[in-house]
Amino acid sequence: MTIAITGATGHLGRLVIDSLKTRVPMGQIVALARSPEKAADLGVEVRVFDYDRPATLTPALAGIDTLLLISASELGKRARQHRSVVAAAQSAGVRRIVYTSLLRAETSSLGLAAEHAETEAIIKASGVQFTMLRNGWYTENYTGSIGGALTGGAFLGSANGARISSAARADYAEAAVAVLTGAGHDGKTYELAGDTAWTLPELAAELSRQSGRTIPYRDLPEADYAAVLAEAGVPKDVAQAIAGWDVAAAQGALFDESHQLSALIGHPTTPMAQSVTETLAALTATRTG
Ligand SMILES: NC(=O)c1ccc[n+]([C@@H]2O[C@H](COP(=O)([O-])OP(=O)(O)OC[C@H]3O[C@@H](n4cnc5c(N)ncnc54)[C@H](OP(=O)(O)O)[C@@H]3O)[C@@H](O)[C@H]2O)c1
Repeated sequence: MTIAITGATGHLGRLVIDSLKTRVPMGQIVALARSPEKAADLGVEVRVFDYDRPATLTPALAGIDTLLLISASELGKRARQHRSVVAAAQSAGVRRIVYTSLLRAETSSLGLAAEHAETEAIIKASGVQFTMLRNGWYTENYTGSIGGALTGGAFLGSANGARISSAARADYAEAAVAVLTGAGHDGKTYELAGDTAWTLPELAAELSRQSGRTIPYRDLPEADYAAVLAEAGVPKDVAQAIAGWDVAAAQGALFDESHQLSALIGHPTTPMAQSVTETLAALTATRTG
């Protein structure tokens, strides 16, 4: 049974392949990458796979039983790109597609949801067996701002009271591996999120506690937060989208208490405090290394 992984050079794809290598023979893992040189260190077979070059897709899926389609990263292009991948999987005779979707994709108020819901519909209409992994937010979406918060002296956002059930990327990767290597997941849709929700003021308090500095959370109106992000170099449309996600979060879009993620991986999800610890250690290592 050969398993192929798209987005193999990305953060999630790398974690999936690392974990998969401990569970199945290396010869049964294929990394799909648009830039194969970036995948050379993965230690498994690499095949060229570019969503925007449809001619690369079907040949790369020859002999593949299960495809993990890690959602593409360019907003607005993804439904089209995923449609090409699903068509290629159909013609290559792939038996099952496991897709990394979004928490409550069909009803979510997050602007991102439409492309995920459309992709799920495309996969279901293809007749290929499927499992939907509706991933909630990565904790790394926030810990990635810790360096900036320490420099600027405050943690910024527009999601003041939002309860965020995030989990570490590694937790979502483990769930993907559990589904890729386990039985009984065909036709299932999993809502995946962290066990314990937290708020941005709580994250700032945890950062303050662990760093020994006072880093308050400062809540900004959506437009002001988008402007701050744009000033920091985030492309304007992405900055607006990020601020909008905070507003959706404040309406509950990132909260979940189904515990399906910890059930799939067989242990509690990574607590936010642990992710803060790991981020501070990595920042210290970068400064001293
Ligand atoms: N749940 C969340 O909080 C959250 C947060 C961010 C993103 N996401 C979604 O989850 C996905 C995985 O997350 P991540 O952190 O691993 O993202 P990431 O590090 O940005 O990885 C994205 C992967 O997609 C590949 N890719 C992009 N365009 C492609 C194309 N045209 N053809 C083939 N491959 C292409 C990239 O290849 P290159 O290495 O060549 O660029 C990379 O391997 C993201 O793509 C996004 O859809 C979820």
